[in-house]
Amino acid sequence: MRPFAWFLVGCGALVLGAQQPEAKKPVEPLKFGPRDYFVARCQRCHGVDGTNYTAGFAKKDTDEMLRHDIDRMAKGAGNQPIKDDEIDVQMAYHRLMSDGKPFISWTGRKDLVLTGEVTDGAKLMAKIGDKTVDVKVDDDDHWKLSLASSGDWEKVVLTAEMEKKKTSLELVKSAYSKPADIKKTGSAPRSG
Ligand code: HEC
Repeated sequence: MRPFAWFLVGCGALVLGAQQPEAKKPVEPLKFGPRDYFVARCQRCHGVDGTNYTAGFAKKDTDEMLRHDIDRMAKGAGNQPIKDDEIDVQMAYHRLMSDGKPFISWTGRKDLVLTGEVTDGAKLMAKIGDKTVDVKVDDDDHWKLSLASSGDWEKVVLTAEMEKKKTSLELVKSAYSKPADIKKTGSAPRSG
């Protein structure tokens, strides 16, 4: 095929890819505490919420490189290997650390009480519909939010603020905060 024909084939693939519907599974709280894991396995070398990493350390890394480093550390110095989905969350956490932004996770829902984790020292607020409330965070950086009715969790938007940098988490969309500019390079499917 001539180069222009290849270009058309490429465009077709892109359009088809874009039309594929996202898997619509209701979001559930994480079954593990990604920040608790970091505290237990990584903090002694990398500092509280990664304060010993060089600022912007992950900017040079593609997803593939960052995934490799986290996996290598979890198996090696961290001495507690983690599964792929946990590495995904660590990657988001590390990208936010690298940008100096707070991280939020959602790890529990029991009756009307939601629980999770947040970066040390961040101020956490919850918007529930048109109401905004402060969220209590304990000494281990675990937050707890009581709802007025069980369906309210779908309306919850958490915002953590730290040194004027903010991260938001809409529970109906995800159980952990992600940086807006995550590089997808490493997780792209192989062609062919
Ligand atoms: C015993 C100390 C120690 C522990 C524990 C440890 N690391 Fe590391 N980590 C290092 C050192 C030293 C380096 C730099 C050398 C290297 O990359 O091997 C590093 C490098 C890294 C890097 C690359 C940083 C960069 O600048 O690009 C990441 C990411 C990382 N570690 C994540 C983790 C995670 C996640 C854990 C917990 C599972 C962890 N580390 C546990 C010592 C540690």
